[in-house]
Amino acid sequence: MTDYEQFKKDILELTGIDLNAYKERQMKRRIHTLSTKYGFKTYNDFFQDLKKNAEHRKHFMNYLTINVSEFYRNPQQWEVLESKVIPELLTKNKHALKIWSAACSTGDEPYTIIMIMKEMFPNVKVSLLATDLDDKVIEYAKEGCYAQKSIANLPQKYVQKYFKKEANGMYRLSREIMDCVEFKQHNLLADRYDTNFDLIVCRNVLIYFTEEAKLEVFKRFHSSLRPEGYLFIGSTEQILQARSIHFEPQFSFFYKKV
Ligand SMILES: C[S@@+](CC[C@H](N)C(=O)[O-])C[C@H]1O[C@@H](n2cnc3c(N)ncnc32)[C@H](O)[C@@H]1O
Repeated sequence: MTDYEQFKKDILELTGIDLNAYKERQMKRRIHTLSTKYGFKTYNDFFQDLKKNAEHRKHFMNYLTINVSEFYRNPQQWEVLESKVIPELLTKNKHALKIWSAACSTGDEPYTIIMIMKEMFPNVKVSLLATDLDDKVIEYAKEGCYAQKSIANLPQKYVQKYFKKEANGMYRLSREIMDCVEFKQHNLLADRYDTNFDLIVCRNVLIYFTEEAKLEVFKRFHSSLRPEGYLFIGSTEQILQARSIHFEPQFSFFYKKV
């Protein structure tokens, strides 16, 4: 067994994260960068340190999971959601939508969904679950305090209505938005999925997974959606042979459960 094979086994035992499901070259590069920074030369030395040092372990997990996000990321896709997907979902289910923002990172994505719903569909009751593997980003999301670059793409009407600029230059999100999201820690590769969602938004995380892990997640999303529910994925992602797993590509980056 190579050093890396053993390292993957050890990490799975220690943290519950299965590195086999992530693309290997990318993971190795990130692990190498971090372990070198701490001064370790072998996977085993690095692992022995991670076992003992909770601070390093936390940093390792955060570093591994790449947390970049922003409000209204890729605006054209949100416009499709507002003008096509949500209106279609509401033709079946006029009063309430159950939505899951999976791998939500610092909360930018679920909060964007709530703003859109409040602005454009104010009479619809929304239940929004937002999850991520990394508990540190969930803590950040619950703080609701963002740098200007996080909201650079967000239409001004939302910035004016829902953010307050603080003395330190950060933007504080209003309680009205924050209270509409339920955050939970959740591992897409290991934990149970809730069901009956009208819409699942899962963007910019599947790119890190192997093809096998991705397919498994897509199948599980399919089971978690209501019939004719939608899956919204990231701009560099696609479901290969979507129809074979009963997803119909409807608009770019939106797949409908059939
Ligand atoms: C690049 S961010 C994407 C954030 C947001 N969806 C967006 O597109 O702006 C990727 C997120 O996936 C999370 N992640 C990585 N592996 C995961 C897993 N196995 N289960 C759940 N979340 C995971 C990371 O913690 C990180 O917050």
